[in-house]
Amino acid sequence: MRLLDYERWVLMAREALLNVKPDIRTVRAQVGGKTIDYGIDVDAIVITGMGGSGVIGDILQDLCWYWDCRLPIYTVKHAVLPKIPASSPLVIAISYSGNTTETIKCVEEALKRGYPVIGVTTGGRLGEMLRNFGLPVVGIPRATAPRYALPGMLYAALAILELYKAVTIGIELEQGLRGIEEALRDVDMASETANWIKGYTPVFWVPESRRGIGIRLKNDLNENAKYFCIVAVIPESSHNDLAAITGGQNVRHLVLTEGVDAERPFIDALMEVLEEHNVEFKAIRLKGSTPLETELYGVTYVGLISLALAEALNVDPVPIKPIERIRALIERRQ
Ligand code: F6R
Repeated sequence: MRLLDYERWVLMAREALLNVKPDIRTVRAQVGGKTIDYGIDVDAIVITGMGGSGVIGDILQDLCWYWDCRLPIYTVKHAVLPKIPASSPLVIAISYSGNTTETIKCVEEALKRGYPVIGVTTGGRLGEMLRNFGLPVVGIPRATAPRYALPGMLYAALAILELYKAVTIGIELEQGLRGIEEALRDVDMASETANWIKGYTPVFWVPESRRGIGIRLKNDLNENAKYFCIVAVIPESSHNDLAAITGGQNVRHLVLTEGVDAERPFIDALMEVLEEHNVEFKAIRLKGSTPLETELYGVTYVGLISLALAEALNVDPVPIKPIERIRALIERRQ
């Protein structure tokens, strides 16, 4: 199977970490008549980004179910920055290309409000705008497409969270990378799963605390295999999606079986109901001993499923023409 950038993922993460410099906190700059001070104690984190960049916000939110996160994290996947219930939030703007209209518009609004903004990008218009104001930009390693640059973006964001004392990660950062290596050893299992869902619409049941892995599988199947996927989040989806199992649609179920301890009965009950209704499902088990390692195992593993499905369908995983088209249309309409 063509693994694209996956074999460089560990290196990408390590490289991005080196790009987060502690002197970010000494930055003070004038933007639109307002002084933006990066040394302040922030009271919330806003992650803004779309698609392969925006999923970093979902992954961080997953991790906060397991870690002792000291600040609320809001994920904004929109061109409109909502009201943030905080007086001094830090905005981490993640855009692989730096040219995503929605992300740039959120950053413009954040700067108008006087919020500190840190860019995580390879450059583009976002990088240029922030640099022109003398504001911090964390560079990330290049990849074949934004979605394949995940570890660089994630590790840059994690290091920024640590710099602002939102989380204490320490050695878990390095340990987390084992999750990537472990998943890469499970390519055959991923191919088996891909062949099992081929020809069906997959319904991926994930506990709320691993929602990010669900979103990642959906996005990767959409973009790599050009394939639709439904993400059903436990327990909420047990109150709606579940009713559809008696409907006879051409779907196949995947169940991610690991969440926080309190989610256990909800996951078990779901599997019991599927069994009672003779609905076949494949369990996806996460490997790893720390929250980050487990999350990275999941995120990498589902990516491999999508690459294997692309291969099985004889689809080139890289091009995403309709997305390029809509990006151009949106940009033209600004
Ligand atoms: C993933 C992909 C898209 C982009 C999205 C935002 O590979 O191509 O999901 O991530 O269009 O673009 P960026 O990441 O450049 O801000």
